[in-house]
Amino acid sequence: MVRVLVGPDTDDLGELYAAPRLPWLRVNMVGSVDGAATGDSGKSGSLNNAADKRVFDHLRSVADVVVVGAGTARTEGYRPIDRPIVVVSRSDEVPETLRGAAPGRVLVERVDDPVAFKQTLVARGWTSILCEGGPTLLGDLLAGGVVDELCTTTVPRLVGGDHRRIIEGPAVDVPLRLHTLLESEGTLLARWWV
Ligand SMILES: NC(=O)c1ccc[n+]([C@@H]2O[C@H](COP(=O)([O-])OP(=O)(O)OC[C@H]3O[C@@H](n4cnc5c(N)ncnc54)[C@H](OP(=O)(O)O)[C@@H]3O)[C@@H](O)[C@H]2O)c1
Repeated sequence: MVRVLVGPDTDDLGELYAAPRLPWLRVNMVGSVDGAATGDSGKSGSLNNAADKRVFDHLRSVADVVVVGAGTARTEGYRPIDRPIVVVSRSDEVPETLRGAAPGRVLVERVDDPVAFKQTLVARGWTSILCEGGPTLLGDLLAGGVVDELCTTTVPRLVGGDHRRIIEGPAVDVPLRLHTLLESEGTLLARWWV
């Protein structure tokens, strides 16, 4: 389905982003047209825009849990939110901004076996799983075959320079099937089935 995303109140994102089944693990990433996953601040925040923010917020609102790599949590200064956050780390170096969260709201896990990791989340009752990156964690999850959906926002900008792409680490070769493509003033928001 290809359609134009009209405005903040006129589209049913619940319907457009419904998970086809549970458990469901989706990863949401933003990039420029030339493939950069960060803008000049070194964060994805300098790339995103209103349309991306709207979908980002919606995907969080329907997730049981948000999974994020420690690198992203540190760089982006993650703070506790209204649902559990699982920070994926080998070093246990959780950013200061996430310390002091209420018990059980911020967990730190390593992901040596993505299949077992996903099973652990589901066993906790978290069947709608949202991963917000970053590129290293996305590479690991794809290599482990546990990603059901990749949501991408392509912002209508070229940034050049030396930036990460949305995947880092060893090469992967993962075919994707386009499920939905939305457009909002040149921003392309896609749902890809992995
Ligand atoms: N464009 C986007 O949508 C988007 C999204 C997210 C992030 N970003 C950007 O990406 C950059 C960060 O990239 P990154 O690749 O460093 O991000 P990342 O994947 O979030 O962080 C890498 C770190 O996460 C931990 N980690 C990742 N995979 C792991 C695994 N399988 N097991 C255990 N720990 C694991 C490790 O943490 P420890 O070092 O603690 O062991 C590793 O050093 C930032 O600039 C951020 O702004 C962009």
